Amino acid sequence: MDDLFGALEPRRREISPGAVLLKGFALSFEAALLPALEATIAAAPLRHMVTPGGFTMSVAMTNCGAAGWVSDRSGYRYDPEDPLSGKSWPVMPSVFADLAGAAAAEGGFAGFVPDVCLINRYAPGTRLSLHQDRDEKDCGHPIVSVSLGLAATFQFGGLKRSDAVVKLPLSHGDVVVWGGPARLAYHGVLALKDGTHPGLGRQRFNLTFRRAL
Ligand code: SIN
Ligand code: FE2
Repeated sequence: MDDLFGALEPRRREISPGAVLLKGFALSFEAALLPALEATIAAAPLRHMVTPGGFTMSVAMTNCGAAGWVSDRSGYRYDPEDPLSGKSWPVMPSVFADLAGAAAAEGGFAGFVPDVCLINRYAPGTRLSLHQDRDEKDCGHPIVSVSLGLAATFQFGGLKRSDAVVKLPLSHGDVVVWGGPARLAYHGVLALKDGTHPGLGRQRFNLTFRRAL
């Protein structure tokens, strides 16, 4: 049977050239994805990083893969070590890499193999202001961004901060892929509305996959 919502809400929505929203794409990976997320966070705990300007970020973060995105008073960088432990970041679980590769291919970027995954955790009220992802060596690779838990409103704009943004509701299992002409698009997340997700409780996770090194 065709599902009713599938008819009302397209599974694949073009946001702008190079950027696509894949509704529910991660749901078929969920059974392996959530335990892998839990194990990763147990090995490298979520923490609130400090910006170069000295502000503590409200989004809690950790990483897995060959390096992790870190921010501190000296700037932003990809670090092969977790500064909290002095050890390597946890290995990227195979289900993470499989999901990212499959979503990228669906978004028009076949052959994407991520080497890093940034894990963001939003509590109610937490937001992420408009920014570009530009700390990666080669922007020829796309970004794959997976939403889990509470729903959020994603803002997606253009190559200039002042460009108009579209607002996209993102729910559990949605994936956004952007690359090519959209690779350096400004994007952000509006303040998370309070609520309780059946599986993940009072929070939202975002997994951002990139080829950074
Ligand atoms: C990010 O841009 O780093 C995260 C986006 C999101 O949480 O959806
Ligand atoms: Fe980002």
